[in-house]
Amino acid sequence: MEINGKVVVVTGASSGIGESTARQFGREGAKVVLTARRLDRLEALAQEIHDMKTGAETLVIQADLSRLEDIESLITQTMNAFGRIDVLVNNAGFGRLNWLEKLDPEKDIEAQFDVNVLGVVQTTRQALPVMIKQRSGHVINMCSIAGLIATPTYTIYAACKHAVHGFSEALRREVKPWGIEVSMIYPGGVTTTEFGQHAGFKRKTQTATPKFLLLSAEDVGRAVVQLVRRPRAMWLIPWLWIFPVLLNKLFPSVVDYSSIHKFTIPEREEELKEM
Ligand SMILES: NC(=O)c1ccc[n+]([C@@H]2O[C@H](COP(=O)([O-])OP(=O)(O)OC[C@H]3O[C@@H](n4cnc5c(N)ncnc54)[C@H](OP(=O)(O)O)[C@@H]3O)[C@@H](O)[C@H]2O)c1
Repeated sequence: MEINGKVVVVTGASSGIGESTARQFGREGAKVVLTARRLDRLEALAQEIHDMKTGAETLVIQADLSRLEDIESLITQTMNAFGRIDVLVNNAGFGRLNWLEKLDPEKDIEAQFDVNVLGVVQTTRQALPVMIKQRSGHVINMCSIAGLIATPTYTIYAACKHAVHGFSEALRREVKPWGIEVSMIYPGGVTTTEFGQHAGFKRKTQTATPKFLLLSAEDVGRAVVQLVRRPRAMWLIPWLWIFPVLLNKLFPSVVDYSSIHKFTIPEREEELKEM
């Protein structure tokens, strides 16, 4: 698919993966709709894309994706400006990580579902009639390895990403006859984003993702652009994640043992002693 001139909506374009994705669509000369809550960031990115002189156009729309009226307005404004939607990148999202009983019921639990799940569902729901009418379109959902392997402190984030996985799989099978593609991308740890600033959990243990599995926001943005050219039901990046994912599917008790003994018990040692 030629990307030049295509109308691409990128949610969460004010930082991290979304910002990088939008920038790369700008390099390709797309008509990029930049949306998030932080208007100053979106405007600065729109200016940067304009300065690339690739023929790309931008439309900045401030929206809080936990609000249905903002989502409706995002799609209406996009249609008023460009008259179609070729690609919707549902990227906006965040994680609040902690032991379940320590997560705030509203600020951490409901808020994550509101943006990470309902934001994706409602934005797609609003864009779909446009794509059905066009008999073309591509929905790209930003999942995560947490949508395939759920680890301690990620209960709600993993539940959200598993929900996005199920939603995308069913949708893909609904909309294909209308010429609409649904792709899912599953990045592992991405270091150059603001995700960690919102996560709110400081680990004591040193267990972390090995360096060779880490990605930059640019790596993921490039992969999203590639997906437009070649849709894929599921794309794990880096692909080596397939081995832990298969291990988790086939032998979950092995992953249980490792997570519990290498993470949960050392992290909660003091609390366990109190009992
Ligand atoms: N970083 C990782 O390791 C990693 C790995 C796999 C998948 N992911 C996924 O990648 C996506 C992007 O994350 P990131 O790492 O790039 O983090 P990030 O730098 O914190 O970016 C998150 C984006 O989501 C937007 N957002 C958050 N709440 C929103 C709301 N209520 N309404 C509208 N926009 C909202 C933020 O914009 P405003 O604050 O301006 O609204 C921001 O643009 C998320 O879906 C995340 O789950 C991340």
